[in-house]
Amino acid sequence: MTDPADRAVSKVQSIDDVQALLAGQDYICGRSLATVTFLALRLGRPLFLEGEAGTGKTEIARALANALGRRLIRLQCYEGLDSSSAVYEWNFAGQMIAIRAAEVSGMTDRDALRSELFTEDYLIARPLLEALRPQPGGAPVLLIDEIDRTDAPFEAFLLEALSDFAVTIPELGTIRAPEPPIVVLTSNRTREVHDALKRRCLYHWVDYPDFDREIAILRARAPEASESLSREIVAFVQALRAEDLFKRPGVAETIDWARCLLALDMMELSPQVIADTLGAILKYQDDIQRLQGAEATKLLDQVRRKLTG
Ligand SMILES: Nc1ncnc2c1ncn2[C@@H]1O[C@H](COP(=O)(O)OP(=O)(O)O)[C@@H](O)[C@H]1O
Ligand SMILES: [Mg+2]
Repeated sequence: MTDPADRAVSKVQSIDDVQALLAGQDYICGRSLATVTFLALRLGRPLFLEGEAGTGKTEIARALANALGRRLIRLQCYEGLDSSSAVYEWNFAGQMIAIRAAEVSGMTDRDALRSELFTEDYLIARPLLEALRPQPGGAPVLLIDEIDRTDAPFEAFLLEALSDFAVTIPELGTIRAPEPPIVVLTSNRTREVHDALKRRCLYHWVDYPDFDREIAILRARAPEASESLSREIVAFVQALRAEDLFKRPGVAETIDWARCLLALDMMELSPQVIADTLGAILKYQDDIQRLQGAEATKLLDQVRRKLTG
């Protein structure tokens, strides 16, 4: 008898299967990313995705979970994240109330009270513990998002957690995953993540999509945009990425911008409409200022020449 988890991953027999499954979730996956994803599933290795913000790293975990019918469990990293927020905590307030209630009812057996307080009832499972528990549909997709925001001690802790997929809670014992979760780690590379952690994973640098792929993404995510408007939007955003900007626009910005232009009933770009909607693609005033006026007109001319040439 194959367990349901195996059946879900066995939907994925080839790199093409990965691309098709993700496309079914409106996620347009290039060949190299599909390859490393396929291998991560096949070999049961964590997938480490690094790249600029807005290039689809978080989204692929979501798409993968949906496509495989697995639950998505997300650990959003931040500075100061510690194991109690990542793995488990005791419900301290609940325990206090139980103690009060015991006092009131005249309960005097301290050992009995203690063993009652440290049970599953008072355990708050955080994402890493949750990901070890059996889930309907099979092992979940565990997304450890923006790992570059945490610090070295947490990385070391993760390295260990990812090697045995077990957590020991002194009062309860060891909880082990019946089947390891499918792990996706992401980093926006605001700092280098330690080699030891990367070595445990399959690594992939997620780049901005090329022209054709970004058009395909728009077709999936903003299907109301006409082909000609989409081509202008993508060519303009891609030209912008080549500029010396403080923060280059990601795919998320391309999609947002298309939706803004559609909401304004725009059929094509013009210097005026670009100036009016720059806030959808550029998020820093210095970048916006650079692009207002002559610079936007120059870029638009360049884009038009490229599209017609
Ligand atoms: N390859 C892709 N296919 C479809 N949509 C994409 C793709 N890449 C990015 N997106 C879109 O861009 C948005 C931002 O992507 P996200 O995964 O949050 O970026 P990151 O985590 O890399 O910063 C997503 O919500 C999705 O709508
Ligand atoms: Mg992200």
